[in-house]
Amino acid sequence: MNFLQLSSLRFSARKYTDEPVSQDDLNYILECTRLAPSAVNKQPWKFIIVESDEAKAKLHMCYNREWFATAPLYIIALKNNNADWVRPSDQKHHGDVDVSIAVEHICLAATERGLGSCWVCNYDTDMMLHLFPQPEGWEAVAIVPIGHIADDCPRNEKKRKEMNEIIERL
Ligand SMILES: Cc1cc2nc3c(=O)[nH]c(=O)nc-3n(C[C@H](O)[C@H](O)[C@H](O)COP(=O)(O)O)c2cc1C
Repeated sequence: MNFLQLSSLRFSARKYTDEPVSQDDLNYILECTRLAPSAVNKQPWKFIIVESDEAKAKLHMCYNREWFATAPLYIIALKNNNADWVRPSDQKHHGDVDVSIAVEHICLAATERGLGSCWVCNYDTDMMLHLFPQPEGWEAVAIVPIGHIADDCPRNEKKRKEMNEIIERL
């Protein structure tokens, strides 16, 4: 599969089967994640694998959607606001950028392994802080459910802006 095929194949999967994600697939996804680039190579991130029934139940309270609860496994991607690169010219923190790249590595690696995934950011942030307390400076950026895609998983048409709407050439 070339990169264009992989990019086209990935979609936000919102229904999974009960089949667990194999340790081999998870290891592969995590290694692809670990190799993601970050500003000044700071790697201001960590990734929490949510697989126990107890932890999954807590996560479902943070993002209470029927489809979300069908996933056998989740990865919470977090940034460290005290360890990311801050651009000197405007003090902009780059932790969100760094973690976002890593999260997309998760999604594309999952796609390559035939698995579904979905970015989830619309969770209850107060509930996340309460149920998954983190050391000072750490903050969740996204939750990624991962699993085998259900046969009746909804598949939306890929709607994207036209090339001429998004590209400028100087
Ligand atoms: C930063 C970000 C946050 C997102 N948060 C959610 C979310 O909370 N819930 C959800 O169902 N989808 C979420 N999505 C998925 C988008 O809706 C989806 O990527 C977009 O509609 C394009 O569809 P596709 O991923 O199937 O190509 C998010 C995507 C991104 C990149």
